[in-house]
Amino acid sequence: MKITKIKQPVYLDYNATTPVDREVAEAMLPYVHTHFGNPSSSYFAGRLTRQAIESSREQVAGLIGCRPSEIVFTSGGTESNNHAIAGAAFANLKKGKHIITSAIEHPAVINVCRYLELFGFEVTYLATDENGVVNPSIVEDAIRPDTVLITVMHANNETGAIQPVNEIASISRRKNVLFHTDAAQSAGKIITNVAVMQPDLLSIAGHKMYAPKGIGALYIRDGVRIQNLMYGGDQEKGMRPGTENVVHIVALGKACEIAARDHDKNHSIMLSAKTGLFGGLKKKLGGRIRLNGDFSGTLPNTLSIAFENINARKLASQIGKEVLVSTGAACHSGTGEISSVLKAMNIDRKTADGTVRISTGKYTRPYEIDLAVEIICNAVMQLY
Ligand SMILES: Cc1ncc(COP(=O)(O)O)c(C=O)c1O
Repeated sequence: MKITKIKQPVYLDYNATTPVDREVAEAMLPYVHTHFGNPSSSYFAGRLTRQAIESSREQVAGLIGCRPSEIVFTSGGTESNNHAIAGAAFANLKKGKHIITSAIEHPAVINVCRYLELFGFEVTYLATDENGVVNPSIVEDAIRPDTVLITVMHANNETGAIQPVNEIASISRRKNVLFHTDAAQSAGKIITNVAVMQPDLLSIAGHKMYAPKGIGALYIRDGVRIQNLMYGGDQEKGMRPGTENVVHIVALGKACEIAARDHDKNHSIMLSAKTGLFGGLKKKLGGRIRLNGDFSGTLPNTLSIAFENINARKLASQIGKEVLVSTGAACHSGTGEISSVLKAMNIDRKTADGTVRISTGKYTRPYEIDLAVEIICNAVMQLY
């Protein structure tokens, strides 16, 4: 039989998801077929998987600088955000029903807020500046006596814009309001340390940092009480009942250990790929491209680029067999609406329609960047 070698396209969509790191896969494998005991069982096989979960908790805590007891494992970024936001809202009904968030949050935050509105919560959705950054003083001005939670993401998934979470956390502490941050895109890419940031709640997502899809964690600062999303057994101290996903918990722990160990190396790989890409495109296309946001105030791997007079979907489909990028920012599927992130930045429809998100990762190699620049530029020229 003739085996046809399929050429792999250049993957530049690491903000959508990442491949599982080989070291992570190796760490989780024994828990797939050998160590299968239920961590709640008192015999040896159960104690072994319990120990694996607790080691993983230490690894996650090590990445974000907290105590292992402050980590709850979840099914991913979406669940962590739901638990943090709905949990904080329902636990503080006596104080009030007002929440502050930003217009650039992921749907896993915005739609929880929309859900809470059905229960009488009032939500303030803050706009950003032209770089997609929330101004802490606007957050402070929005605080009311009945504000129970502020939730502002650490870094945006579409533009990579890094938010002033340290300042926002400090305001929320001063005003005695809980602060949650969605760090799904930042953990593993930039320093995400709760001892420095001081949020009350922080979400992370495994599949954005080379662990499998369907695993995440929620940091809950010691002493902070939030309501459960689910009710059942006493796993995760009763805060997240259900038999633990041991295989993926082990994977997340390993991924966090690697992210901490290789932070500087990976940061430099991602940033030099981002710099090479932007420089290469700028050199060939000049004024025909514009960066949404500020190069240095964004994640080391993320570029949100608007191609003048180009439809981003057409461009992505033209290059789709060779280079994988995201057009999610241009237009939300089917609705015809431009992305709420670009809207919050006051970006016009034409620019939004021409916007592509390019995100590099720790496996991005220089030759892939050269190739991607060439392929994208050729496609742009053809589309003119
Ligand atoms: C900023 C942000 N928050 C939350 C999520 C959701 O995470 P998950 O896919 O693990 O549910 C994502 C995923 O794209 C994200 O980018």
